[in-house]
Amino acid sequence: MKLKDGRELTLRKAEKGDAANILAYLNQVGGESDNLLFGKDGMQMPVEAEEEFIESVNASETSVMLVGLVENEVACVGSISASSRERIAHLGEVAVSVAKKYWRLGIGEALMKELIAFARQTGKLKTLYLGVRDGNDGAIALYHKLGFMEYGKFPGFFHIHGQFEDEILMYKKI
Ligand SMILES: CC(C)(COP(=O)(O)OP(=O)(O)OC[C@H]1O[C@@H](n2cnc3c(N)ncnc32)[C@H](O)[C@@H]1OP(=O)(O)O)[C@@H](O)C(=O)NCCC(=O)NCCS
Repeated sequence: MKLKDGRELTLRKAEKGDAANILAYLNQVGGESDNLLFGKDGMQMPVEAEEEFIESVNASETSVMLVGLVENEVACVGSISASSRERIAHLGEVAVSVAKKYWRLGIGEALMKELIAFARQTGKLKTLYLGVRDGNDGAIALYHKLGFMEYGKFPGFFHIHGQFEDEILMYKKI
């Protein structure tokens, strides 16, 4: 798809060969906001572990990891993680991030729409859910725009720079 600045975004499933680039990307974006579960260089794991993780996701029918590339560089990563436990196998947990230099170009929205489309075509996932740091207004606006509803707040969920902060819980029936 075409971004608001005219460049092209390619969204596709992550493959084993993306592991090193995805880890480097995550270690970078961790430091670009305080809104993820980890900070700069917070994903210290061997490339092989990430490769195995990507393969396990790709072997699952209801989980997915998408990577978005702009000019061959990783610009975003998004995932749905679903449980195989039968009584919660209809739920998918969503996580997304976009590299700061690409914010506000439409990538987050395109990524979320692709994740929702994936979830629908599984025929098994019925509800998507996510948690977002209270005050991450850009992300909350994005999720509202796509029909996510707030269903609660987890007080003190995040521990960021010595402060405890709340998590807003959101879900969408698909
Ligand atoms: C939140 C995030 C994913 C948004 O990605 P993005 O590519 O910049 O978002 P888009 O350009 O696709 O914006 C889509 C919509 O989201 C909302 N939005 C996104 N950023 C916003 C901001 N800073 N302020 C207000 N609304 C915002 C708007 O409704 C926007 O629609 P519009 O452009 O028609 O106004 C991105 O800022 C990010 O990765 N942040 C750091 C990590 C993070 O917070 N991840 C989510 C953790 S739960």
